[in-house]
Amino acid sequence: MRILVIGSGGREHALAWKIKQSKLCDKLFCAPGNGGIEQIAECIDIKADDVAGLLDFARKEKIDLTVVGPEKALALGIVDEFTKAGLKIFGPNKKAANLEASKVFSKELMAKYNVPTAKFKIFDSPDAAKKYIEENGAPCVVKADGLAAGKGVVVAKTVDEAKTAVTSMMQDKIFGDAAKKIIIEDCLIGQEASILVITDSKAVLALASAQDHKRIFDDDRGANTGGMGAYSPAPIVTDLILKEVMDKIIFRTIDGLAKEGIDYRGVLYAGVMLTKDGPQALEFNVRFGDPETQAILPRLKSDLIEVMLAAGAGKLSKIGALEWDSRACVCVVCAAGGYPGNYAKGKVISGLEEAESIKDVVVFHAGTELRTINDVGQRQEREYLTSGGRVLGVTGLGATIKEAINKTYQAVDKIKFEGMQYRKDIGKKAVS
Ligand code: AMP
Ligand code: GLY
Repeated sequence: MRILVIGSGGREHALAWKIKQSKLCDKLFCAPGNGGIEQIAECIDIKADDVAGLLDFARKEKIDLTVVGPEKALALGIVDEFTKAGLKIFGPNKKAANLEASKVFSKELMAKYNVPTAKFKIFDSPDAAKKYIEENGAPCVVKADGLAAGKGVVVAKTVDEAKTAVTSMMQDKIFGDAAKKIIIEDCLIGQEASILVITDSKAVLALASAQDHKRIFDDDRGANTGGMGAYSPAPIVTDLILKEVMDKIIFRTIDGLAKEGIDYRGVLYAGVMLTKDGPQALEFNVRFGDPETQAILPRLKSDLIEVMLAAGAGKLSKIGALEWDSRACVCVVCAAGGYPGNYAKGKVISGLEEAESIKDVVVFHAGTELRTINDVGQRQEREYLTSGGRVLGVTGLGATIKEAINKTYQAVDKIKFEGMQYRKDIGKKAVS
């Protein structure tokens, strides 16, 4: 099969890496890809949200299956467009993608179908929102309705902080139209876990559990980021908790969507808070998580393409359970200095080969590009440069989580670029 992966991050490198191992994959493309992906796929210079350009490419190149990484293209309806053109694509259609693209849609669906989630209220006026905050008090959480590149949520400790968030979202319009409506919800307390499933809207296959590390600094301090590391499995997600998440969050949501006439096919990612009153849904994503995917896929033994094809065809029940490597996997993100604020690009990365020579270590690239330094003579010399905030996802497998942590940090030690920062405590929660 000729397969196209859409996206350019660490998640997409992990997807491409796993897909490349499938016996069904003859030729792999990635749009636009990155320096690491370039080593295993043909990278095409088309942006991940250029639906028309991607459709044109898939038609011309006779792509047999397209796998979508980021949410933007899904929210724009890429699945509807490809399906209309008779092309196979893995991911939910535009209506289903609303589960991530509109938090109002998502919370209303949860309320209607009795999915446990924080108590909330929807506002389209800043004054009413602020009045509610004053009456309801802090802490509370302010959320922009639409997509805001992962920055649309403010967990406010004080009433003032919450009101300031309302002002910047609704009056200063920092997220444009994405905050025409906002949600104010109660603050939940507990540990977070990511539960990802693949579904064809009838059958559901759970992926291994994972935990993300959203804050920039150790011990969950500092600013929120796209994710500084992950591990799988998450021991906090016991079989009992997983069953509760599946019954009360995943199945109720998928069945609720079906009752609304929405057929959900693809990955469904539930961000859950494990509270003392049981698991509560924080949010849904309609795609694989980043960096959870980097920690989950190295443990997956089943052929991912077979599973994706079955989900797209509505035949997921024909696939038995997914097979997993019992070992633990840890992914440590190496980020550029200054991230998640301003950061420099174009720094030379060294030590990648040495890191990857360690058994059971793989380095997924997120923000890198390959530069040719010497094109003359017989040997082409190339080097990797940083090109984004999250640069690499160094990933290692180990018999225990402790072993996986040690191995991964051993590999991280080999890698250097100017300004490199990473968390030293990825996986620590799983050990204690
Ligand atoms: P979301 O995009 O809705 O997942 O929000 C991003 C992050 O904000 C989550 O991963 C949580 O850390 C935090 N968060 C969201 N909603 C709540 C809530 N109701 N209570 C506490 N923290 C929350
Ligand atoms: N790891 C968080 C996300 O993918 O949204």
